[in-house]
This record gives sequence, structure tokens and C-alpha cells, in this order.
Amino acid sequence: MHGFILLEFEKYIIKEHGFAVWNNISRKANAEGLSIDATQVYPDSIVFSLVGEAIKELDAEPGTFLERFGYALVPNLLKVYKAYIDPAWRTMDVLEHTERTMHHAVRTNNPEVTPPILEITRKGPKSLQIIYRSKRNIPQLGVGVIKGIANHYGELPKLHLHLTQTAEDGVYLIDVSMLS
Ligand code: HEM
Repeated sequence: MHGFILLEFEKYIIKEHGFAVWNNISRKANAEGLSIDATQVYPDSIVFSLVGEAIKELDAEPGTFLERFGYALVPNLLKVYKAYIDPAWRTMDVLEHTERTMHHAVRTNNPEVTPPILEITRKGPKSLQIIYRSKRNIPQLGVGVIKGIANHYGELPKLHLHLTQTAEDGVYLIDVSMLS
């Protein structure tokens, strides 16, 4: 996983729960003293140990925890990838371009990084469907990212979102619409 995401995770835990909690989590995940560099790529196992220990330490529901973290990621995600985002775009446009533009840039900037494959189909002016495919099986993080993007554009109150698991492992449908 991209060091940027791992660094944001550390910042998120420290901001929400303090240094002592982060130290406990990283010790239990055998990642104490790990210095995180936003330009490096880390094994998924480190990220999953840290997330797993955080969920235990905070007695959190995994889906809700991932969604909150995804939501918290957005301001810096939009800052770092600003060059790829047309200022005229709003929530639905950003979502529509995520795979072709942002996740594509993530992959070409660093071939070791593997964001999920999102198959995005515009269903109408105010609705689209995202098919999420990833062996990491964490679509709730994406749900949080979508809500964070809508919040960024002041469109969160109008956002309607539905996550459905499919019969295939690691494949989920995310239906998104904007109510008028
Ligand atoms: C501004 C738009 C976005 C940017 C710049 C962005 C960027 C990134 C980056 C850098 C990663 C780390 C990849 C890795 O380390 O392998 C990532 C992962 C991820 N992205 Fe995005 N993303 C964006 C929008 C979205 C959206 C709309 C979704 C909605 C489904 C999404 C879902 C995810 C998920 C779930 C992951 C975690 C890895 C996985 O599940 O395999 N992203 N993204």
C-alpha cells in the first residue's frame, strides 16, 4: 500500500485518539518505530496489521472504521492529486473520472502501487454505478472516500449511496446517486 495512505492512517489515529493509542497499536502490530515515508510502498500485511489492531484497540466495527478513515483521507487526497482534477468538476464528475484519471495516475506514477480496479458506469445525469474489485476486500474505505468527496463539494446531504456484496470474492457494487 502507498505510504501516503499509511501516513494518513497514522495521522488519523493520532488526531482522533492521541499518541499513546497510536503507540499501543503500532506496538501490537509489530510496527513500533516504523518510519513512514509517503513516497514509499509498504506491504499490505503491515497496513492490515495496523488496521486490525486499531479496530481491536478501539473496539470499532470494521466497516464503520474503514469508512470513517476513507472520509478523513479525502482533503489530502484531493490536495495531492489536485493536478488531475478539473476545477469545474463536482462529485459525480470526480467519481466518473476516478479510474481513468486519478487511479490511473496512481498506477503510472508508481507501478508497485495497486489501487482497486473500479468499473464506473454513468447511469444518468445524477446516478452512476461503481464495480469495485480488489483482493483487499475493503470497499467501505471507498464508501468513505465517496462521502468525503461529496462533502468537499457541499453535496453530501444530497448523496445517496448503496453498497452491495456480490457472490464473487472481492467484488462489490456501489450505487451512487444525487438527489435533487
Ligand atoms: C480523488 C480521487 C481518488 C484518488 C486520488 C485516489 C487515490 C488512491 C490511492 C493513492 C490509493 C492507494 C493505492 C495503493 O496503495 O495500492 C487508493 C486506494 C483505494 N481507493 Fe482510491 N482514489 C480516489 C478515489 C477513489 C474512489 C472514488 C473510490 C471509491 C470506490 C476509491 C477507492 C479506493 C479504495 C477502496 C482503496 C484501497 C485499496 C483497495 O481497496 O485495494 N478511491 N486510492
